[in-house]
Amino acid sequence: MIQRVKGFRDILPDEAETWRQVENTAVGLLQDFGFSEIRLPVLEKAELFQRSIGAHTDIVEKEMYTFPTSKGEMLTLRPEATASVVRAYIEQKLYAKDPVQKLYTLGPMFRRERPQKGRYRQFYQINAEAFGMESPCIDAQMIFLLWTFFEKLSVPGLTVCINSLGCPACRPRFKEALTGLLAEKSKDLCADCLRRRDKNPLRVLDCKVPSCRAALADAPAMIDYLCEDCDRHFKTVLSLLEKQTIPFRIDPRLVRGLDYYTRTAFEIQTEQLGAQNAVAGGGRYDGLVEALGGPKQPAIGFAIGADRLVELMLQQRRPPGPVPDVFIAPMGDQAIEKAYAWSCALAVLGFRTEADFENKSLKAMMKRADRIGALQVLIVGEEELAEGAVILRNMKTKQQASIPINGLVDHVKRLLMRPSEIKTG
Ligand code: HAM
Repeated sequence: MIQRVKGFRDILPDEAETWRQVENTAVGLLQDFGFSEIRLPVLEKAELFQRSIGAHTDIVEKEMYTFPTSKGEMLTLRPEATASVVRAYIEQKLYAKDPVQKLYTLGPMFRRERPQKGRYRQFYQINAEAFGMESPCIDAQMIFLLWTFFEKLSVPGLTVCINSLGCPACRPRFKEALTGLLAEKSKDLCADCLRRRDKNPLRVLDCKVPSCRAALADAPAMIDYLCEDCDRHFKTVLSLLEKQTIPFRIDPRLVRGLDYYTRTAFEIQTEQLGAQNAVAGGGRYDGLVEALGGPKQPAIGFAIGADRLVELMLQQRRPPGPVPDVFIAPMGDQAIEKAYAWSCALAVLGFRTEADFENKSLKAMMKRADRIGALQVLIVGEEELAEGAVILRNMKTKQQASIPINGLVDHVKRLLMRPSEIKTG
């Protein structure tokens, strides 16, 4: 038997319904907030991610699926979508039409992380990116949008964690202060942090190793080093969120795992998924468009982790899978032929229809109809055909109606639309 690849998942029909609900809710809301869909390739040049996410991040150092083409060009299965959206914004000159672009995209991402609950090597994100807007209103609105989305799906127990990562004007001073502390604490830091200390000190704040966390308990906070502009921006975002009564927690350790962020960074966290506590994350990346060769345009975005969100929803309530409106149970070849035609016609009319063409016994077919939760069963035997009428049985009330074969589809349609009208046979 060939098994699936480690860290890659099958999403079975009883979960897929919840996935569809998540995606439809997100798309509806994003469109109401003025976002348009963009569909992007899953394969990009490796350099795109090295230059945007940052060469010294876990994602780029350890987690990318990168391989050479026959010409030696390095390609990567996208580990996230922001870099690709920015690439398209620049390459397709979307900014020339209007620098303000609000784009969303849904799809799979790939990271070679150690698989565990809530962490997969292929996982799905719902991404939203807004370009060309500097105002703190858009920061607050992105968080408001996320919060509304989770409220619409009735996901409880979430917290908005927020921080400001400053800008190229104020961050160096913070980095200096942090590097000073890291030098003092170097004997308590893990090997990864010692490496990060020189190349990318902010990443150390993200380390989950307990000894590193303890050593950095008194680490300086970026929000104490913000320049005047960044400070004003951050305070306005917080005050807008307060006015909308969105509960948030300022987390001075929130640095996110990608290097492109400036100013506002945020995560929506849950305590119900163990170590994988972020169901969404995002922030501003005002320098990225320019760094990738585009015009100087600010941007902000977020990504929702659909796998984790669906897991949270299923923990709460496992919705019943879809059930057939009608199950056709034919006996004999002639009845099967009729059942075939009726099942096609009813499905085309929008009724979820299931028919058994395997010439089974009525008992076996009724058992299956019951098992799959069919609401009504249309029983078609040779006798019924001879009499010109078949039986429609309501599986819940056990009431039976006699339906003339002439114009059967129309009769059934009427009855399925108004099941209360079914007469006892
Ligand atoms: P991220 O924090 O790396 O941000 O990922 C966003 C979300 O994707 C996480 O909060 C989590 O729910 C989900 N996720 C990440 N890795 C995995 C995994 N291995 N298995 C399951 N779920 C996972 C980004 O990717 C940024 N591009 C977000 C962004 C958009 N920032 C600005 N715009």
